[in-house]
Amino acid sequence: EKGPFPFYMLKEINEQPAVLRRLAQDYLDESGKPVIEPDLLAALDQADRLYILAAGTSYNAGLAAKSVFETLANIPVEVGLASEFGYNTPLLSKKPFFLFLSQSGETADSRQVLVKVNEWGYPSLTMTNAQGSTLSREATYTMLLNAGPEIAVASTKAYTAQIALQTILAKGLGEKRGVKSAQDFNVREQLGLVANGMQTIIDEKDFINQLAQNYLATTRNAFYIGRGYDYAVSLEAALKLKEISYVQAEGFAGAELKHGTISLIEDGTPVIAIITDARVASHTRGNIQEVRARGAHVLTIAMEAVADKEDNLILADIDPLISPLLSVVPTQLLAYYTSLNRGYDVDKPRNLAKAVTVE
Ligand code: F6R
Repeated sequence: EKGPFPFYMLKEINEQPAVLRRLAQDYLDESGKPVIEPDLLAALDQADRLYILAAGTSYNAGLAAKSVFETLANIPVEVGLASEFGYNTPLLSKKPFFLFLSQSGETADSRQVLVKVNEWGYPSLTMTNAQGSTLSREATYTMLLNAGPEIAVASTKAYTAQIALQTILAKGLGEKRGVKSAQDFNVREQLGLVANGMQTIIDEKDFINQLAQNYLATTRNAFYIGRGYDYAVSLEAALKLKEISYVQAEGFAGAELKHGTISLIEDGTPVIAIITDARVASHTRGNIQEVRARGAHVLTIAMEAVADKEDNLILADIDPLISPLLSVVPTQLLAYYTSLNRGYDVDKPRNLAKAVTVE
């Protein structure tokens, strides 16, 4: 039931702090250590490379988690579009492990790869919101997102749940492997900080609606830019805006602008910059100057530690490694309000279905 919310999407955005707290409760013990099936951890520990396969928003959740696995668990990661991977399979490592991300557990593009993985005899894990779904039944292992039903076609809480659960898994694997960065990463505290930070953003939703009206009300196109973790989330931010508000939106790596994209910037073109990581903040600020000089209408979303007083939205400080968990929330709300203000059916964008069961 939607309760007081006009659309499921807004309800599901609102549920995200609770979803993260539930994941921490379900998958961490009292001391904050991940509780993960020992067989699964052993199989992952033996792997020399993790292949994350998915489609759409779930693929973007894999992109956001690549650095998390590499940093915390010291395992090389390749993230692939399931629809490409099955037919254009790269050379596999000697001991691959396959992770399928799927909210519905029914995405045909992903299943097609899992069928091959099973023929090849490699171990696999499905992270899904749907217990008993096809991808869950056919994979060696399953981890449930426990995010509650996601009804809106545009995925929101499944994205953040997938990143959070992958973070817990990476922490568990890293600890098993004795990786120092995993030992130092307090996942329970971090997820708590994220949940609180999400709530702050959600409480600012009327202000975000104003930003949507100021920047995105009538535009036909828009750009998200960022570097590193902020680039990964830019791709999801752009997808959200595209699918429900029909604005042609693209996410770009900040530095790539000067390699061609900047020619698209015109007077008034909305450019939304995401800045969460001190290592690249000044470079992204440089890219903002470049687009501003060409007339872009720039909106900035920055984490407190790297924020300027001119930034439009400030995010609470969390470990930048998992910043997409937090930085995605204002972009979900920007997409939501842009769609709403244009009078669209936010929950049921044209031409789209919730689960895509054809290849
Ligand atoms: C975007 C969206 C889709 C799905 C994609 C994969 O908001 O919902 O891009 O993410 O179809 O679906 P699942 O995760 O069910 O495999």
